[in-house]
Amino acid sequence: MNYKKFFPYFSNSDITYLDNGATTQKPQSVIDAELEYYTHYCANTHRSNFGDANKATTEYEETRKYLQKFINAKDSSEIIFTKGVTEAINFIASSFAKNFKTVIISSLEHHSNIVPFHMQERTLGDGLEVVGYKDNFTFDFEEYENILQKNPNSFVSITHISNAFGTIHNIKKICELAHKYDSYVMIDGAQSLAHKKVDVQDIDCDFFAVSGHKTFAATGVGAVYIKQELLEKVEPYQTGGATIKTVTYNESTLLHSPYKFEAGTQNIAGVIGFKKALEFIDNIGYEEIEKREYRLYEYLQNELKKIDDVVLYNTTKDSISNKSFNIKGLIHDDVGILLDKQKIAIRVGHHCTMPIMEKLQIKGTIRVSLAFYNDFDDIDKFIVALKKAIKMLKD
Ligand SMILES: Cc1ncc(COP(=O)(O)O)c(C=O)c1O
Repeated sequence: MNYKKFFPYFSNSDITYLDNGATTQKPQSVIDAELEYYTHYCANTHRSNFGDANKATTEYEETRKYLQKFINAKDSSEIIFTKGVTEAINFIASSFAKNFKTVIISSLEHHSNIVPFHMQERTLGDGLEVVGYKDNFTFDFEEYENILQKNPNSFVSITHISNAFGTIHNIKKICELAHKYDSYVMIDGAQSLAHKKVDVQDIDCDFFAVSGHKTFAATGVGAVYIKQELLEKVEPYQTGGATIKTVTYNESTLLHSPYKFEAGTQNIAGVIGFKKALEFIDNIGYEEIEKREYRLYEYLQNELKKIDDVVLYNTTKDSISNKSFNIKGLIHDDVGILLDKQKIAIRVGHHCTMPIMEKLQIKGTIRVSLAFYNDFDDIDKFIVALKKAIKMLKD
């Protein structure tokens, strides 16, 4: 199936787009839904009481209900819209995690899941613990349990799928162990929903952050799932319009979740479009998405292995989308420039994961990141361009 035909970017561009880990393309249905909102019923939500305002509120809330079912949350009050995963993590870090003596992360975290904890003046060994990995970036469960044993009642914040290496963490096991030691878990799901089914009740996580723009929806939209039992324990991160029941000059009383957490006018069009992105995924189905992506990933890995001097950073089969490598003797930036000249869009650099790059004693990698609409032809074009770039740089 040619899924690219549903994404207008591909008919308007001759770029081979392999940078889906940074952001995905948007299907026409998402674009149409946003255009429809702006051209036919542009009004604010949860405030005014006229036709278009009520329609905007209804459509906005429909996305909440859809996302609730999509990730199998118990109730729609557990879904709070944010502008993305970064905001979701900052929110939970400052409204809940700040109360814990220790925060535990993995060594593969994105800066968005590190910096908010540094802002709380946590440093390695002093409020922040980092779980290492075994071969091929496999999460070190022994070390994790040791850390939990020494630091019960901690806050664990871990990525589901590594944006740099494609490693898939066993988040169900991570949550199970954390709960054994009275700890809470937030999952950074920025790289999840575009590739894998998420069931928050089955995973039994306490928080799960999702990114709209990495899931075929607009930029500036995302959400965080907060387990029902914790909704009263999490403080609002921001307050203001739309969060309150009553305000006097003396005091304010807040609404219940999700409204108390969504201060100010939200990205209404973005949220409305997000539902279309999720519907798009549902229409294809995760089984088909995973099957396609695993086949592409394997093909890409095999083709890369055939290239002289390639250094692959993760060779497990159980990884998805993001494939990082280097070419011995070449600077990743130079390769990136020559690929760009050949109309191949990939990302080179540290991928917002500087600590793991430092640990590997490299400045960065060349990363190809796939989505279900990519095909073998994209990979072939990339490999041809890569070989040409290598030849130019080595000769
Ligand atoms: C693993 C991971 N976490 C967090 C983020 C930040 O997500 P957002 O752009 O939705 O704020 C990214 C984006 O690259 C990511 O890959």
